[in-house]
Amino acid sequence: MQLYSVSQLLKQKNKLPEVEVKGWVRTFRANRFIALNDGSCLNNIQCVVDFENTNQALLKRITTGAALHIKGELVESQGKGQNVEVLVNNLEILGDSDPEHYPIQPKKHSFEFLRENAHLRTRTNTFSAVMRLRSKLSYAIHKYFNDSGFYYMHTPIITGSDAEGAGEMFNVTKLDAKNPPLDSNGKVDYSKDFFGKETNLTVSGQLEAETYAMSLGKVYTFGPTFRAENSNTSRHLSEFWMIEPEVAFMDLPGNMDLAEDFLKYVLNYVLEHNKEDLDFLEQRLINEEKTKPQAERSDMSLIEKLKFVVDNNFKRVSYTEAIDILRNSKPNKKKKFKFPINEWGADLQSEHERFLVEKHFKCPVILFDYPANIKAFYMRLNEDGKTVRAMDILFPGIGEMVGGSQREERLDVLKEKMAVLDIPEEELWWYLDLRKYGTAVHSGFGLGFERLVMFVTGMNNIRDVIPYPRSPQNAEF
Ligand code: 4AD
Ligand code: MG
Repeated sequence: MQLYSVSQLLKQKNKLPEVEVKGWVRTFRANRFIALNDGSCLNNIQCVVDFENTNQALLKRITTGAALHIKGELVESQGKGQNVEVLVNNLEILGDSDPEHYPIQPKKHSFEFLRENAHLRTRTNTFSAVMRLRSKLSYAIHKYFNDSGFYYMHTPIITGSDAEGAGEMFNVTKLDAKNPPLDSNGKVDYSKDFFGKETNLTVSGQLEAETYAMSLGKVYTFGPTFRAENSNTSRHLSEFWMIEPEVAFMDLPGNMDLAEDFLKYVLNYVLEHNKEDLDFLEQRLINEEKTKPQAERSDMSLIEKLKFVVDNNFKRVSYTEAIDILRNSKPNKKKKFKFPINEWGADLQSEHERFLVEKHFKCPVILFDYPANIKAFYMRLNEDGKTVRAMDILFPGIGEMVGGSQREERLDVLKEKMAVLDIPEEELWWYLDLRKYGTAVHSGFGLGFERLVMFVTGMNNIRDVIPYPRSPQNAEF
């Protein structure tokens, strides 16, 4: 006898006299029909129990959530809804599930409730579909870069530098919080700490990735990043995964081409390989939309949205053009923006980004050439002396999906910038070395993986696309 996954069984074209399958009960109806799911695909295999010839005590233990081992015969299904089913010859309960207490009942649960039961929520169709897509997307990302000649680099998680200069980092320390050693100025003396210096969890692998780009040519990182910003929004996590390619001899337009090609590739990949899960999530959204007033309903379905992005060029717009559009926009004139746009230099808030993407251009937008003083220290200064070669890619419903730039490759300009921002050269001596020995134009970007998963799955809350979300006041599981 051979053990099959549910997905394998559902694909069978012929009868099979002897099959084995293991999984969890989704439902058990009429004392006869078990819907068994093992996570291998969205659908369940129907297993039909011979009621008369099965021990009654055993039947009682076939409850939602129980783990079963079933042996039987795979036959063409008599009923509607499935092509094949298993006629059970032998049934073993591997693990009981107390129906009184099992939280995942066969009914609609709120996402809030499921977040509190995140350890069991992948036993629902929605979350298993989301997490299968998350896994496939991650594979597609590695495949894209591997097939394009990139090397996968593992950048450190514990670091001494603050790549984004935002200072929103989690400290990593072994010092006694109650009684830390102090230096002569009364400040905590990190030279006595585990690493002999102050360290934190990384906010980005970029700076280290740059060092490898300047030797291996094309590299990318894909790892966890940590931000201690106190943003309790549906788009922010304290721990999230970021994909950061970095390429030597590539300028900003090349960076935009790479990001656009990459995003289209991974979206196409799941459109081709994950149709079942996408169809399910699309239907979920269609049902959700029906509960909304007509005016708020989206005019594209989930799959249409993904195809739209794959088939159309991203709109490339300079920051300066964007400011003009925003300044003259209806919501700005009618004072509908919480942060009105009055002058060049203003930082764009998510309300502005969403206006540009969702109302004005109605497609993904690459904004570039931002004012230098609202962007990180490492971005290449333009000839105008006031803008930098930065780019943000904005997506409908998501806002910022990607942030990237051409990097400042000129030693003197970089040093000057660091001095202005009070970034000590001693801390980044190795980063400066890249500008001393064989410096060259290079660029890269960072894609927030969870934001991509949100876009692909149509989930509205970033906490629902990562297994165990970390956010302010929340690190359960
Ligand atoms: O724009 P960010 O801060 O860029 C960087 O970190 C650069 N070092 C990237 C690079 O050039 N290599 O972050 C990149 C992306 C954002 O566009 C967003 O998608 C995501 O990371 N992101 C977050 N996702 C979830 N939760 C948060 N708190 C996030 N902060 C940024
Ligand atoms: Mg950014």
